[in-house]
Amino acid sequence: MIDTTLPLTDIHRHLDGNIRAQTILDLGRQHNLTLPASSLEALIPHVQVTSNEPDLVSFLSKLDWGVKVLADLDACRRVAYENIEDAAHNGLHYVELRFSPGYMAMTHQLPVEGVVEAVIAGVREGCRDFNVEARLIGIMSRTFGETACLRELDALLAHRDGITALDLAGDELGFPGSLFLSHFNRARDAGLRITVHAGEAAGPESIWQAIRELGAERIGHGVKAVEDAALMEFLTKQRIGVESCLTSNIQTSTVPSLAQHPLKTFLEHGVLASINTDDPAVQGIDIQHEYHVAAPAAGLTPAQIRQAQINGLEIAFLSEAEKAALR
Ligand code: ADE
Ligand code: ZN
Repeated sequence: MIDTTLPLTDIHRHLDGNIRAQTILDLGRQHNLTLPASSLEALIPHVQVTSNEPDLVSFLSKLDWGVKVLADLDACRRVAYENIEDAAHNGLHYVELRFSPGYMAMTHQLPVEGVVEAVIAGVREGCRDFNVEARLIGIMSRTFGETACLRELDALLAHRDGITALDLAGDELGFPGSLFLSHFNRARDAGLRITVHAGEAAGPESIWQAIRELGAERIGHGVKAVEDAALMEFLTKQRIGVESCLTSNIQTSTVPSLAQHPLKTFLEHGVLASINTDDPAVQGIDIQHEYHVAAPAAGLTPAQIRQAQINGLEIAFLSEAEKAALR
């Protein structure tokens, strides 16, 4: 259960994986775009996971219609704003939204820097209107290669004040972290915090690489860490946060069932693991579902669920004073 006396956070949520189906329809109509369906009901199977996908890359293709309707910068601002509205409606006190500006810009060849600006503006307006605290994490989509990631990094650094951290997402197996050393060196030099999707599609070596070579302070998913005892100990001792996303890991076939999910083992070992959504609109879930349905199904006791909730704020990319203000 969610402890209503504690702040509720979601620190692993993709803004571009959380575009409302209704907004996809609206933007499609507004910009005269051809969509695979013209009613909400018929559109759902194209934009939402309806049964588990065979792997991460198939899962990620479900995000494509959401970004294909981003025909101008106002559409980018709108989906950012609606993400904050949804966070507020879901009872979140604090959300870290991540987005890949290159992916959002891709279909309609929008200026990547303009996308970053529009997302920052939409989130600011949303926070003002809905009384939610938020931070933005810029994503480099590894799936599109090193040069495309460099363009994303340049655009994010051009708006450094509005961006808290850098992440690497997309096809972990096809594009290992070792391709992006210089990108992360630049980001760290600019003072960005670092989180990396690792140990989701690839093994524990990908997590070691993210920590040792990319400077990750937190790991997205990290499920494969349980295969490496030394890594589990390292995560605990070095207080490397883990952003767990239970339902996502089932839908990407990363973990065969919730009963076999390693989150319980992380918590038993004292790893600072937290409960998050990933791509809620695409997954057809919300944060309540993850706490009330997925976490118990993963075998977590009420005390472990509460610990995961505490960890979410503990490992948030906030100063100690900012965390204290939320408690
Ligand atoms: N982008 C959106 N969701 C993702 C995930 N689960 N893994 C990697 N990249 C993503
Ligand atoms: Zn993710």
